[in-house]
Order: sequence, then structure tokens, then C-alpha cells
Amino acid sequence: MTDVLTPVLSRNWADDRAWTLAAYEAQGGYDGLRRAVTMEPGEIIELVKDSGLRGRGGAGFPTGMKWSFIPADNPNPRYLVVNADESEPGTCKDIPLMMASPHTLVEGVIIASRAIGAETAFIYVRGEVLHVVRRLQAAVREAYEAGYLGADVAGSGTRLDVVVHAGAGAYICGEETALLDSLEGRRGQPRLRPPFPAVAGLYASPTVINNVESIASVPAILAHGVDWFGSMGTEKSKGFTLYSLSGHVKRPGQYEAPLGITLREILELGGGMRDGSELKFWTPGGSSTPILTAEHLDVPLDYEGVGAAGSMLGTKALQVFDQTTSVVRCVLRWTEFYKHESCGKCTPCREGTWWLVQTLRRLDSGQGQAGDIELLLDLCDNILGRSFCALGDGATSPITSAIQYFRSEFDAGMHTPSAELFPPAASTLF
Ligand code: NAI
Ligand code: SF4
Repeated sequence: MTDVLTPVLSRNWADDRAWTLAAYEAQGGYDGLRRAVTMEPGEIIELVKDSGLRGRGGAGFPTGMKWSFIPADNPNPRYLVVNADESEPGTCKDIPLMMASPHTLVEGVIIASRAIGAETAFIYVRGEVLHVVRRLQAAVREAYEAGYLGADVAGSGTRLDVVVHAGAGAYICGEETALLDSLEGRRGQPRLRPPFPAVAGLYASPTVINNVESIASVPAILAHGVDWFGSMGTEKSKGFTLYSLSGHVKRPGQYEAPLGITLREILELGGGMRDGSELKFWTPGGSSTPILTAEHLDVPLDYEGVGAAGSMLGTKALQVFDQTTSVVRCVLRWTEFYKHESCGKCTPCREGTWWLVQTLRRLDSGQGQAGDIELLLDLCDNILGRSFCALGDGATSPITSAIQYFRSEFDAGMHTPSAELFPPAASTLF
């Protein structure tokens, strides 16, 4: 088995005072910052580039490279924005991280801001998690009092202010440009890219937007070095990461492990499937990533491995379903979510998700019509690649992959309701 005992982000989660500055410093907290203030901004960027750290929000874009895109000759202020709007179904890693160890994020924010030359950073938190907002605000307050934030960051002579901002609970505000619109006080809807935020982001100024886990991984890289980070993970997907395990398993939760671990190994850590459960299908990265099946148990959970298996690593939200789950009903639930969260800006997603829900409801109730499966595939074909942002594309992934692996269950929807084939009482999920 891969060496899974390398908790870095979650190392102090068992300590119920881990969120305090004193507890964080007692475990070496802010050592990474102490090193960072002795380095030039460009050196920090090179170090993060060399580490191979890739964005943990889903897309896996190289973090150091993103920082290096900030144009040197733009006179506008630069901003760092942390995307803490975690909402992808099944994804629950950033919220526990911020609750248990908010200073890991705050330290990462200070280092990243130094690297890109930002004097103001925003942490945009999902609106529903008020307890996380309060915890972050408390950590930011402590960091000001300790001199890590404010006019003279850790004695470096540079300024940094951090604002914790609560969103209002729209999934689309996790899309980085919709997040920027929301932060500016407008209705959150995606902007055209390019220009990417690195060139014209918040208030049309150069802006780096990173996921919570990406930023929280930076202090340890500064403190322990590139070789240490690269000793975990795979050649192209380096380091440790947080996987969210949920569903028909004995011990759901967050599991920190090197990239490249397999679902089989994580299931072992999670005590295996529940008694009487057999793995039927699972998502590698939340419901926006194509589902996989039991034949993919040994696929390395890294960007390349999951991609080669026909899906995406995404947010590393491992939702596990057993034989009692109706694929049609499960996909319908996810599609209802996308229809509800579609921001309405573009026609393929706004109209297409509505039609997908109508068609799936027919099949779920056993009243499917001849040609409904082809209709679903045709709708997906017209949404994928024709939508303005990734939400539309993501909405099609569970449907097309579910038809690929479980077409007979969709066929059965022509005459038998899902509830008859998979009585809800037998399953605690769908
Ligand atoms: P993307 O691949 O378009 O962009 C990734 C990042 O790289 C962005 O920050 C973008 O600005 C930057 N970038 C890409 N090309 C660039 C260039 N040429 N110049 C400058 N910057 C560049 O991915 P996107 O649309 O931002 O995110 C999609 C991912 O989000 C999906 O993979 C999905 O897994 C994930 N997701 C995560 C959720 C969560 O709750 N964490 C919710 C929904 C989706
Ligand atoms: Fe809005 Fe959906 Fe279009 Fe994205 S794909 S812009 S969420 S309507």
C-alpha cells in the first residue's frame, strides 16, 4: 500500500484547540512564513513552481505558474483571492480544514501575497458555513495581534490586510470569475476568459485566485522544501492531498494521503464498504466528474491516472454507492442540483439542464419514452463544450458516464420505476 501516514494539513485535527494561534505555533506554525520573509518574491514563486504543487480546487493547474502570470508592468494593485466557496456535491475538505486549522490557510495567504506582491487578500467563504467564517475571522484577528498581518508583516516591512467575506450560497460563485463579480457586489455570473483573472481580475486588477487547500499546502512546502514535497505523490502529481470519502462506507471522512493512492487503499483506511454492501459506482471528484465502477478500484487517484480511466480527479470527492442505489435516481438528483444552480446566463445550460431533468424524471418514474436515452445523449452533446462555463459541462458528466456503464437501468425506465427496482428503504442514500 502507498505510504498513507503523511498527514500534513490534517496533522493536528485531533487537537480540539488546533485552531488557536498558540496551538498552531507549538507545532511549527508560521515557520514557513519566517523562511518566506527572507526570500525575494520571485524566489518564492520559483520554489512553489519547482515543488510541482497543482491546484487542489479541481482543475489541477500548476500553482506557481499561476502566480507567475501576474504581469510585472501593470501598475494596478494586485490581489490574492482564496476560493473557499466549496460546494461541489460530495466535497467536504476545505471546510473541515478551515475549521480545524485556520492558521494553515492564513499563513499560506501571507506567503502567497508576498510572492505576488498583494497588499490585500480576500477569503471568499461559502455563505452557509457561518461557523467557518467566524473561525477564520478569529484567526485573522490573532494574526494581526501577533504582527503577522498589518503594516509590517512579520518584520518584513511589507503590508498585508486580509478580508474574510461570506458569499450568499450560490454554487456558481465557486466559479472563479463569478466569485469576483460577487465579491465586487454584483450578481455572481461567470465572465468571459481570457482575460484570465491573473491579468484582469478583481476590480480589473491582476488577481490570483487559489483554492483553500492549494494555499494551505504552501507553508509546509516553504518549511520543509521541494524535495520533501516531491517525495510524496507521483511524477506529475506531487505531494499530499485531502480526499473526501462518503457514501456506503464504514467510516466516511477526510483522508489525507499522497496523490496516486487508489480507491481500494482509501476504502481500506475507511474500514471498507458497509456490511452487505458491494461497490457499484463512485465519483473520483464529485458529481461533475464522470462516474467510475468497481473495475476502476486500482486507478491511481492522480490527475493522469483518473484522466486515463475516462474521468477527472476534480475535487477528490470519493462518493461511493452500493448495489442498492439506482443510478437513474442518483443522476436525477445531481441533475436537479445543476438545474437549480445554473445561473441562467447561457442557453445550453439554462434550458438544457431543465430538459435533462424532465427526461430523467420520466425514466425515474418508469414512464420513459422510446428515444429518451438518445434524447439525453443529444442534450448532453449540445451542452458540453457549448456552455459559457464549466457548470454546464459538469452537468453532463454523470449522465453520459452513467449511460455508458448502466444503460440497462435507463432502458428499464421505459416501464419500471427506479423505486421498484431499488426500493428506497434498502438504501440510506438515493
Ligand atoms: P480551468 O482549467 O479553466 O482553470 C484553472 C485555473 O487556471 C483558473 O484559476 C484559471 O484562471 C487558470 N488558468 C487557466 N489557463 C490560464 C491561462 N492561460 N492564463 C492564466 N490563468 C489560467 O478550470 P476552472 O473552470 O477554473 O475550474 C474547473 C474545476 O473546478 C473543475 O475541474 C471542477 O473539478 C472544479 N470545481 C470545484 C468545485 C469546488 O467546490 N471546489 C465546484 C465545482 C467545480
Ligand atoms: Fe451560467 Fe450554466 Fe452558462 Fe455557466 S454554463 S454561465 S452556470 S448558465
